[in-house]
Amino acid sequence: MARNKIALIGAGNIGGTIAHLAALKQLGDVVLYDVVEGMPQGKALDLTESGPIDLFDVALRGSNDIKDIAGADVCIVTSGLARKPGMSRDDLLGINAKIISEVAAGIKTHAPDALVIVLTNPLDAMVTLMKRQTGFSKQKVVGMAGVLDSARYSSFLAMELNVSVKSVQALVLGGHGDDMVPVRSSCTVGGVPVDRLISAERLEAIEERTRKAGGEIVGLLKTGSAYYSPAAAAVRMAESYLLDKKEILPCAAYLEGEYGCSDLYLGVPVQIGAGGVEKVVEVELTDKEKEEVKVSASHVADLVGALDKVLAS
Ligand code: NAI
Ligand code: 2OP
Repeated sequence: MARNKIALIGAGNIGGTIAHLAALKQLGDVVLYDVVEGMPQGKALDLTESGPIDLFDVALRGSNDIKDIAGADVCIVTSGLARKPGMSRDDLLGINAKIISEVAAGIKTHAPDALVIVLTNPLDAMVTLMKRQTGFSKQKVVGMAGVLDSARYSSFLAMELNVSVKSVQALVLGGHGDDMVPVRSSCTVGGVPVDRLISAERLEAIEERTRKAGGEIVGLLKTGSAYYSPAAAAVRMAESYLLDKKEILPCAAYLEGEYGCSDLYLGVPVQIGAGGVEKVVEVELTDKEKEEVKVSASHVADLVGALDKVLAS
């Protein structure tokens, strides 16, 4: 049986970390593609040389030629600029839209059967652009944000209660921006609704920290944005696809009526299996949460509306 092939488009902080995790989990052979000469080759060689220590049998290769992604089962796209202090994700729209258009053409030509997982920011607009430019089905183009945002919410709740993260079930919906929606009504710790364990005031503070969690890390790192947790989140999605695990994960998915949204990518729970995004799962929301999702969706729609202008300039 042939091994899976995982193409990483962008071999920067997140791309390199994904390559390491994919190798450790032996998910498949990895191609790191980037425009910077030598860097993807250097990372691939360094990781290859860790194989005899961690005992994995996968091939890692670095490349500056998009043709080397040929036949990939999964393409994970992180190519583009990352946030610096003082920048919002939306500030990246113009420059990253051009990069995504370019790599979408390469994916369409060389990996037409791949599941495409987009991470590049601003996420909801970039995943929309990827679908438009590849013409791939909604099952085959998905954005990573909700797995990360939900993990951040879970981490803060586990820290607050001093419990294992395994006991926390938390979900964040909506766009990957400061108006994302932590869904308190579906959050449980050890099966107990979270609002019975933590005061409303503390929950407000934790949810606000969740919304701003990306910026908190940018402020600390100063030279870029988070990469360990985004990489782990992307690998979780890829693994569910490659192993047909059918995990239900919050991801940016193309909506056609679900959650009251149409013709729009938005963070919602989806089932990921061998068919890609196999279905959107609708969870019950309170009226307040529904309103917050609506606000977040309208921000995503504005950003997508700005795409055409930016691409024409
Ligand atoms: P990074 O700067 O370390 O890596 C980006 C890489 O893309 C660089 O190596 C660069 O050379 C490469 N690149 C630029 N143009 C390219 C092209 N045309 N073809 C191929 N590669 C190209 O950035 P990092 O930290 O890996 O972040 C990547 C993206 O992911 C950023 O846009 C960041 O904002 C976003 N991000 C998204 C998250 C999410 O939840 N969706 C979370 C964290 C970051
Ligand atoms: C993050 O949430 C900046 O989108 C990036 O860490």
